[in-house]
Amino acid sequence: MPQDVLFQLKGVSKCFVKGKEKITIFEDLDLTINRGDFIAIMGPSGSGKTTLLNMLGGVDQPSAGEIWFDGARVDNLSEGALTRWRARNIGFIFQFYNLMPMLNAARNVELPLLLTKLSRAQRKKHVETALALVGLSDRAKHMPGEMSGGQQQRVAIARAIVSDPQLLLCDEPTGDLDRTTADEVLEMLQLLNREHGKTIVMVTHDPAAAKYAKQTLHLDKGKFVQRELVA
Ligand SMILES: Nc1ncnc2c1ncn2[C@@H]1O[C@H](COP(=O)(O)OP(=O)(O)O)[C@@H](O)[C@H]1O
Ligand SMILES: [Mg+2]
Repeated sequence: MPQDVLFQLKGVSKCFVKGKEKITIFEDLDLTINRGDFIAIMGPSGSGKTTLLNMLGGVDQPSAGEIWFDGARVDNLSEGALTRWRARNIGFIFQFYNLMPMLNAARNVELPLLLTKLSRAQRKKHVETALALVGLSDRAKHMPGEMSGGQQQRVAIARAIVSDPQLLLCDEPTGDLDRTTADEVLEMLQLLNREHGKTIVMVTHDPAAAKYAKQTLHLDKGKFVQRELVA
């Protein structure tokens, strides 16, 4: 495998069985994600964008085919190995932030680190670094309910990067934000990609959001239908 390939889907199919009905979401899908890429995935509602992200993040398993990460197959890992792999390599960012409402910003950001062997002092340091990176050092003690949508999404970004994963998976990260705030969040993702070497896969409905990515893939009827390269 060439050095710059981070993630590969090889002939991946996914179907759900509902009663007697079998719904095929993807059939024989191939995708190569290079290290340092920033990919936007667009497509109609129900086209399988979230399902695709969940498979990349090891939250959902393909029905057939293989998923490779950094030269190793990951779709057939045991539950425990998959959880450790995910904690080490993947950061998730969601449309509605998914913060714990009863925990302040710092505690929310700390959550993924509770799965690691870091000491309390080390965790504190990582949390401070991540909050500083998203410009929220002064909000560490604030509760999610005391923050704007944009600030909550920045806390969620800090949580996604706190364990220094290689890959960020973002599902409609600006879907709930106004244009100005959305642009701030997108600039932050772009900075993480350009300056901190994060590989990013972002699902979005918004063509303006997709412009921040290096390339856009359109998902329709289980296939990537068009590939645009943005300079
Ligand atoms: N757990 C599930 N069981 C059955 N069908 C599902 C499940 N998850 C998703 N689907 C179906 O798969 C299709 C794609 O869903 P999704 O990946 O959420 O699409 P998108 O994010 O592009 O809107 C939809 O038709 C949805 O109903
Ligand atoms: Mg979705």
